[in-house]
Amino acid sequence: MSEDTAPQAADAAHAVAAAAARDDFAARAAELDAGDPLSGKRAEFVLDEAVYLDGNSLGALPQAVPERLREVVAHEWGELRIRSWTESGWWTAPERIGDRIAPLLGAAPGQVVVGDSTSVNVFKALVAAVRMADETTGPAAGGPARDEILVDAATFPTDGYIARSAARLTGRTLRPVEAARMPAEVSERTAVALVNHVDYRTGRLNDLPGVTAALHRAGALAVWDLCHSAGALPVGLDAHGVDLAVGCTYKYLNGGPGSPAYLYVRAEHQPRFDSPLPGWNSHADPFGMDPEYVPAAGIERGRVGTPDILSLLALEAALEAWEGVAIEDVRAKSLALTDFFLECVRAYVPRGRVRSVTPEAHHERGSQVALECAGAGEVMGELIRHGVIGDFRHPDVLRFGFTPLYTSFADAERAARTLAEVLAYVPGDGSASAVAAGAQEQGPVMT
Ligand SMILES: Cc1ncc(COP(=O)(O)O)c(C=O)c1O
Repeated sequence: MSEDTAPQAADAAHAVAAAAARDDFAARAAELDAGDPLSGKRAEFVLDEAVYLDGNSLGALPQAVPERLREVVAHEWGELRIRSWTESGWWTAPERIGDRIAPLLGAAPGQVVVGDSTSVNVFKALVAAVRMADETTGPAAGGPARDEILVDAATFPTDGYIARSAARLTGRTLRPVEAARMPAEVSERTAVALVNHVDYRTGRLNDLPGVTAALHRAGALAVWDLCHSAGALPVGLDAHGVDLAVGCTYKYLNGGPGSPAYLYVRAEHQPRFDSPLPGWNSHADPFGMDPEYVPAAGIERGRVGTPDILSLLALEAALEAWEGVAIEDVRAKSLALTDFFLECVRAYVPRGRVRSVTPEAHHERGSQVALECAGAGEVMGELIRHGVIGDFRHPDVLRFGFTPLYTSFADAERAARTLAEVLAYVPGDGSASAVAAGAQEQGPVMT
């Protein structure tokens, strides 16, 4: 055999092995689905014949939402009108729905409030944390200057932009540090660190207990962004002593496009939570119309202005899907799904065509698999055309999100098989990159 024909022979041998593996994987998928304690949840979502692996960007529509929204619009708004602020519980919805999300984050009631976007909540949390650090371990307590803010060097961009602005406003220096390096880099100069629990690009799960403990040893506060972990894995905010946290509800919590975010403020910090956006909804007596600002006593301090009631109540209906669901079961299924998908990819996809940038180790893995792949934009365009919906991140990453409430093992097998079929005709030498740029513009854009 010449050197030229050797790779072709290897590819042919791989194709034969992959074909043989197919029946085996399909049978295993059926078995895993039959034994899945969450399999009944799939029927609670509006899905079609496509394999939807983009719930880490926009969760699927829960069946309960359309009817609830119709009722809110027709009855609560249409008939009760202004009375609904009290009679339909609109005014207290941010705290009520916060308490509904809290168990999924490992938080006791009274510490989570829903409203605004994640970006806005990052701003509130960071500035309030700097003020808190000054007071508790900084100059006001006879401590060091605490003149820097650390930010996860791989953070989702909005957190980085907002952190830079918060640093300018509070007169601090912003220092990007890799999440894994935070324990080594934190010092008595640090006021607060902002860290992403799961990296949006690679799916890496950062060490929330370890990083939080290291920050505390240095007298600094921890703010975690839970966008890619809430609803996918246990977070343990109370147990691990997290100070403040934020996250969105439109990914694994299925709240809908642009659904409101949440802010967690640890109960013991609430009396010192000095919001940089002290809107009238966070006043101790919002209807007293007092020209002087007096903050509310509890988590209401995290509110700003009038809540977005339609989105809030859609989210509340979406959260009904969590009834009777243990987040530990969700985590177990998420890991089993991502393990199975990776195994199928290894068996089906010719060696060298994709490289997983998602950690193998379970304790370092979130609920998505990210594969580096030449021509990723075109590959994802083709996958979508063949009914496998994931997304693509610059410059060459295919992302597949696994939402345990509605993703099946059969979905995982079909996605890996379709990927191999697409890779058989999309060139693997990167020559498709011009097409990739176009595909990105048409493809899903949210993260
Ligand atoms: C980690 C992370 N933080 C923040 C955001 C965006 O927040 P916002 O809802 O303000 O757009 C995202 C969006 O996907 C995200 O992945």
